[in-house]
Amino acid sequence: MVAGEHDSGALTVDQFRQQIRQALRAVAGDAAGLEADLLLREVLQRSRVQLITRGANQLEATQFAQLTTLLKRRQSGEPLAYILGHREFWSLDLLVTPATLIPRPETELLVEIALARVGSEHAQVADLGTGSGAIAIALASERPGWQLLATDQSTAALAVAQQNSQRLQVSNVEFLQGSWFEPLGGRQFDLIISNPPYIADDDPCLEVLLGPAADAHPVEPISALTGGSDGLDDCRQLISAAQNYLKPGGLLLLEHGHDQQPRLQQLLEAAGWNQIECFQDLAGLDRAVLAVAGQ
Ligand SMILES: C[S@@+](CC[C@H](N)C(=O)[O-])C[C@H]1O[C@@H](n2cnc3c(N)ncnc32)[C@H](O)[C@@H]1O
Repeated sequence: MVAGEHDSGALTVDQFRQQIRQALRAVAGDAAGLEADLLLREVLQRSRVQLITRGANQLEATQFAQLTTLLKRRQSGEPLAYILGHREFWSLDLLVTPATLIPRPETELLVEIALARVGSEHAQVADLGTGSGAIAIALASERPGWQLLATDQSTAALAVAQQNSQRLQVSNVEFLQGSWFEPLGGRQFDLIISNPPYIADDDPCLEVLLGPAADAHPVEPISALTGGSDGLDDCRQLISAAQNYLKPGGLLLLEHGHDQQPRLQQLLEAAGWNQIECFQDLAGLDRAVLAVAGQ
């Protein structure tokens, strides 16, 4: 569909919905239907159910114009989450900007593991490389008795994370800027959790993630995605020093790429970590590793 092809008076919500779905197929693939609904819900300010029950309503001219503009942005390859300005993670509505990674569903696995494995009601937890604050805020909202420290080297990302915690009225997260362990001072934690950059610098998947015309629209920050020639530079730093910031028996939990588990296992063993466990995401791919600090 091309903007201006129809005037709004000729279209119902249902008709436009079908056209948007069709138009998004090239850029969104199987997610075209979901994305069409999210765009419509944003502009029409409707719930999912209302979108269906009021499908016969005609679109107003302003709504049509707004939707056409958003659709063009999406068709140019701009991520939907940046167009809408928010993304759901762990049932929390998080603000996202091009300064933050768009939180992924597979990262919810880290939240699940942390909640299941940390028994204390008063744990001290650090989320290193917090981005939008997704992991820290999800944990803080589930465990009001925990004290969370969320860090990032990006001040712009950290500002978004702080905004998210204020909007969601989560008061048990502290935010500090700095590279990996720099902001931690002499503190010791029960759990250090991180979804660090882990894509290899020359991985062809970057082109898919960033899109072919990456300069034409906002894309995810490369510093949130890539971790050196094998993708593991940041993991190496975290694995080599995290034990200095953990209480005895403290845990390190890392997200990683689907093919990185064997190498991470070697790195963890060489650095003296104990009880290394590996976890798969919903697609059955190796996605997270948990290790206990050595004595
Ligand atoms: C893959 S993103 C994860 C963001 C967020 N935790 C999530 O799961 O959606 C990695 C994050 O690490 C941050 N980062 C990259 N290098 C860093 C460093 N040296 N120190 C601290 N944070 C860093 C990036 O700015 C980015 O926010």
